[in-house]
Amino acid sequence: MSKIQKVRGFQDIYGENAKKYRYIVDTFRETFEKYNFKEIILPFVEDISLFKRSVGEATDIVQKEMYVFLDKGGREVALRPEGTASCVRAYIEEKMYAEGGYHKLFYEGAMFRYERPQAGRYRQFHQIGAEIFGVSSVLADTELISMVYKILKRLKIDFKLEINSLGDFQSRKTYTQELIKYLKQYENGLCETCKSRINTNPLRVLDCKVESCKQITKDAPKIIDYLSEESEKRFTQLKEYLKALNIDFVENPRLVRGLDYYTDTVFEFTTDQIGAQGTVAAGGRYDNLVEQLGGPPTPALGFAAGIERLILLVKDLPSEKPLITVIPLTPDYNIQALSFSESLRNSGIKTETLLKEGSLKSMMKTADKLKSDYVVFISDKYELKEMKSGNQEIFYTPEDTLEAVKDKI
Ligand code: HAM
Repeated sequence: MSKIQKVRGFQDIYGENAKKYRYIVDTFRETFEKYNFKEIILPFVEDISLFKRSVGEATDIVQKEMYVFLDKGGREVALRPEGTASCVRAYIEEKMYAEGGYHKLFYEGAMFRYERPQAGRYRQFHQIGAEIFGVSSVLADTELISMVYKILKRLKIDFKLEINSLGDFQSRKTYTQELIKYLKQYENGLCETCKSRINTNPLRVLDCKVESCKQITKDAPKIIDYLSEESEKRFTQLKEYLKALNIDFVENPRLVRGLDYYTDTVFEFTTDQIGAQGTVAAGGRYDNLVEQLGGPPTPALGFAAGIERLILLVKDLPSEKPLITVIPLTPDYNIQALSFSESLRNSGIKTETLLKEGSLKSMMKTADKLKSDYVVFISDKYELKEMKSGNQEIFYTPEDTLEAVKDKI
């Protein structure tokens, strides 16, 4: 029979990678807790217009990469390509703004983009991200960036932090006009995609990877020279604050991000250790988006990290708890084995009841394959054996055996 394979661009995450996935997510979550972020569990499917109106009609994500379909009720829906838009929709729809104060939310889960798969780029991938609604102070930008910085340090990842400012709406409008003027002069030298981007999404020409486009944009006007007084002040303050907190960063005037909703601060955490797809976490401010999606004017900002890319980078996992395997010597001792295993687990010990019955030799082989640190043979007595040394001790009650196991691990 022919085997069924996974769909192109989709992955099974198992074994060591699943452990890394969990370790990464736990590390983020622990830190989010400390910063008082609250979890939001968002739907996978949204009305397609949500992404058109937030991520942007002219972006690659909306134009080419969304999984779009009609549901049985004839609604045009999309599998979420990112989490920010849904988070904003929920913030408005659930009227969180009405509670006053400000809101700090985090989310985690699968996202879908029909991109060309390669190392670090998949059609289903997982993000963990956070959003802050209702604060315009640079304090928030600083704290968010420094939080991500610390998490990546905790994961022992080698990275570079790049920052830029896209300015407020007005600065960006003026700048975009100047950029279009500049790009039009060199239109013939641009790649086909960038030729059409001049009119649809000119900022994206700045981060095109094609050599001729890179050459042309080297001398393009820089957004930093077009910032309004307010935006410039904000960017200067952010840099001062980051320096004061010893957060290393570089300014990258080409950093524009692939989503339309950003204003002022944008940032990316990048690495050169996993090939072309080197951005591991990214985000920025989006002060107009809540209003654009029908909510009250609400400054906001956030970030998301790509878990698969982090899996490629995380080297060491924290050491695992030792494993005790309980082996009934004959089926007569099965019930005794099951209940002894339970008492080990109740004491917080990682325990495997050997589920594959057989000869002593084959059961020991299985215990070895399971990477057991100790085995306990159950018969009319309890024999505790250390796998590495082969040392063995005998006990006559489950209580004594349990105490001995606890002493050893
Ligand atoms: P983004 O840059 O599109 O931003 O995605 C964030 C991160 O998700 C990327 O830096 C990357 O690590 C990961 N990622 C994106 N696409 C893929 C893919 N095809 N395969 C594997 N990993 C991928 C956003 O999504 C924004 N919502 C971030 C944000 C939150 N901005 C403000 N708040």
